[in-house]
Amino acid sequence: MSGARLGVDLPDETCTAALAALIAAALPAGSELHLVGPLGAGKTAFARGFLRALGHRGPVKSPTFTLVESYDVTRDGVALTIHHFDLYRLADADELDFIGFDDYHRPDAVLLIEWPSRAPGRLAPALVVELEITGPTSRHATLIAHADAQWSGLDFGTLSTRINELGKL
Ligand SMILES: Nc1ncnc2c1ncn2[C@@H]1O[C@H](COP(=O)(O)OP(=O)(O)OP(=O)(O)O)[C@@H](O)[C@H]1O
Ligand SMILES: [Mg+2]
Repeated sequence: MSGARLGVDLPDETCTAALAALIAAALPAGSELHLVGPLGAGKTAFARGFLRALGHRGPVKSPTFTLVESYDVTRDGVALTIHHFDLYRLADADELDFIGFDDYHRPDAVLLIEWPSRAPGRLAPALVVELEITGPTSRHATLIAHADAQWSGLDFGTLSTRINELGKL
């Protein structure tokens, strides 16, 4: 079930990174963020911005073949592990069991998931970011906070205000 929505224009990749940074600061530990959109929409670019904002300085590879890449970071002095999934190559939701998906869900971890549509019925996002390609360098993002966002602690109102303040992202 989905709840509040917010649309944001992202004229260039720097704006996508800025949006990712705001979400990285706000997304509660223990939650899932889904990244939705066609090939080349900028899902991995968003994940890169998210990780950079949390201080990760190394490369951020697309986990298309490995299914998941994990990064240890700190946020506000608290250790946090970011698991970046790309489920594009998943043939069946049951394959999640082979990689021990449920074990990645921990109170000190955030899951970024590209192609969540490959695992219907198995995932529960606090927030979905849908990316549309609107031009060679531009994207439109739609943020959708889900019903479980409330118990997961995402303050979508404050996040929306910050995004609107960045405004001319
Ligand atoms: N505003 C923008 N935001 C994000 N990426 C952009 C933007 N403008 C151009 N790009 C480019 O679009 C491409 C996005 O590629 P990326 O790998 O992030 O897509 P993806 O959605 O992860 O695709 P896939 O489904 O294949 O994993 C990159 O080459 C990036 O430089
Ligand atoms: Mg990708």
